[in-house]
Amino acid sequence: MTALNLPVLLGTNRKDRLSVFVARWIVDQMTRRADIETRLFDVADFALPQDNYGTALTDSFPEWRDAIVNADGLVIVSPEYNHGYPGTLKAVLDLLLKEYIHKAVAFVGVSAGPWGGTRVIEAMVPMVRELGLAVTFSDLNFPYVERTFDKNGKLLDSAFEPRAKDFLDELVWMAQILRWGREHLPSKYHDSK
Ligand SMILES: Cc1cc2nc3c(=O)[nH]c(=O)nc-3n(C[C@H](O)[C@H](O)[C@H](O)COP(=O)(O)O)c2cc1C
Repeated sequence: MTALNLPVLLGTNRKDRLSVFVARWIVDQMTRRADIETRLFDVADFALPQDNYGTALTDSFPEWRDAIVNADGLVIVSPEYNHGYPGTLKAVLDLLLKEYIHKAVAFVGVSAGPWGGTRVIEAMVPMVRELGLAVTFSDLNFPYVERTFDKNGKLLDSAFEPRAKDFLDELVWMAQILRWGREHLPSKYHDSK
């Protein structure tokens, strides 16, 4: 199997965001695997206009467009903001539509509280379904994130390593079967590669 192409999207541009530690850590875990190629996208790097929205802007963000065109799936790292996802994350996801269809998505939830973003992940499921993404059922949750990393972003709890392995194994399985489907099964939503 050639390596699966699975970019990571960090979903918040909040100053002093702790989710950045989580995003860098999961990218590092993914980079260590021979079956995954990845790179980090950060919503803070998207110069989103105030006077337009959605797929009208697709070609203004060619790096993101091409990354998703070539992707087999996506990892979304999102903090929980009032049990929901940041508006900036939604605005970046809404830049594309057909490019996501029949690809896998896996969620990493981040929270200050005890639930590790469980509620924001539940909120994202119906939204990504409308994008045509297929959701894995193994999430990775980071509760109490302020005490899970030190101030330099070093993970303080090694228990996350086997959890990340299970999370990524499931994403790889889903992304692989969907790649096979895109390549072998005709669909009106995409050309078979
Ligand atoms: C607007 C806002 C709403 C928040 N709502 C929640 C929440 O519903 N549940 C929770 O556990 N933490 C909540 N938090 C705390 C975040 O989970 C916390 O900041 C954590 O560090 C992850 O977000 P960050 O990447 O912005 O740091 C909220 C933070 C902000 C800024």
